[in-house]
Amino acid sequence: MLRFGVLGAGRIGKVHARTIAASGKARVAYLADAVPKAAADLAAEVGAEVASVEDIVKAKDVDAILIATPTPFHAEQIEAGSNAGKAVLCEKPVSLSVERIEQCLKVVEKNRTTLMIGFNRRFDPNFGALEKRIRQGAVGEVELATIISRDPAPPPADYVKSSGGLFRDMMIHDLDLARFLLGEEFVTVHALGSSLVDREIGAAGDVDTAAVHMQTASGKIAVITNSRRAAYGYDQRIEVHGSKGMLRAGNVHNTTVELATAEGFRGDPILHFFTERYGQAYANEVLAFIDAVTNGKQVSPSGKDGLQAQKLADAATESWKSGKPVKVA
Ligand SMILES: NC(=O)c1ccc[n+]([C@@H]2O[C@H](COP(=O)([O-])OP(=O)(O)OC[C@H]3O[C@@H](n4cnc5c(N)ncnc54)[C@H](O)[C@@H]3O)[C@@H](O)[C@H]2O)c1
Repeated sequence: MLRFGVLGAGRIGKVHARTIAASGKARVAYLADAVPKAAADLAAEVGAEVASVEDIVKAKDVDAILIATPTPFHAEQIEAGSNAGKAVLCEKPVSLSVERIEQCLKVVEKNRTTLMIGFNRRFDPNFGALEKRIRQGAVGEVELATIISRDPAPPPADYVKSSGGLFRDMMIHDLDLARFLLGEEFVTVHALGSSLVDREIGAAGDVDTAAVHMQTASGKIAVITNSRRAAYGYDQRIEVHGSKGMLRAGNVHNTTVELATAEGFRGDPILHFFTERYGQAYANEVLAFIDAVTNGKQVSPSGKDGLQAQKLADAATESWKSGKPVKVA
């Protein structure tokens, strides 16, 4: 049984701790949170002991650390876990600074420890199946990928101020997905952004509506569109076009029930937000990490994937601000 220390008992920490506890292959030995009641409640639920971050990192009876604290703590907690020889699964992003990520990855590399980054969409059953079919050659040579990602409602402007902005906070998932689907690095990024949903988001120096075009060295193109609002729920779709055809994965609805009348066909709403839509993806992600660490397999997505997605998010932010395409090293 793999013994976890979980850092952070907030929205995503709860989801991951419950997966570990239900896995039958691992358990949450210790749990830490800056708010003692948050730690105590989740620890009681998953059968863990409450401890400090420092004690968890040092604990001899902890094999792996799951980091679900706010972003500014990720890099230092990855380094602490790695220096103590633990395998680490860290929520995205590693850091909002590319330099800080590079520094952190050097520590992990030096220690030769395991680091996986929580880009959960790679583990979504629909998107994962689509990617497998690309690799099997179902659409021949891939030429274009289109990713649509819209939140049901905008976050508070206060959240936006400390988030790093839409490209680093929200689009980072789609930037990683684009790399995952095309299997190549992007060399050019061109972004447009507006605040059309909430003026306060614009006043906070961010955008709530954005489109990005990216191109690989071989000429393949990815198009990503994001909005912080969709009247009909959490809109998550992919289309990949290639020399032999097209693959697409649509939204997942609450049920498959349809009502047909003279006015047309009507289905149920789509799954409301990320905890509902990606519930299975989060579980698959944690189970893949447990399997990799237990059986000595390579983890994916890696720290390098975290770094590349951040470089693309920085390039998109720069391109939106300058109005010019940006080259990515
Ligand atoms: N992959 C995804 O889809 C996804 C979804 C949500 C959040 N996230 C990421 O997960 C991280 C956490 O987000 P969240 O929405 O769960 O936030 P949250 O605010 O709900 O939870 C964070 C928790 O960490 C605790 N905390 C704060 N500082 C701490 C510290 N130094 N040590 C221990 N605990 C501390 C807080 O008290 C809180 O309970 C963020 O980096 C976010 O980007 C990823």
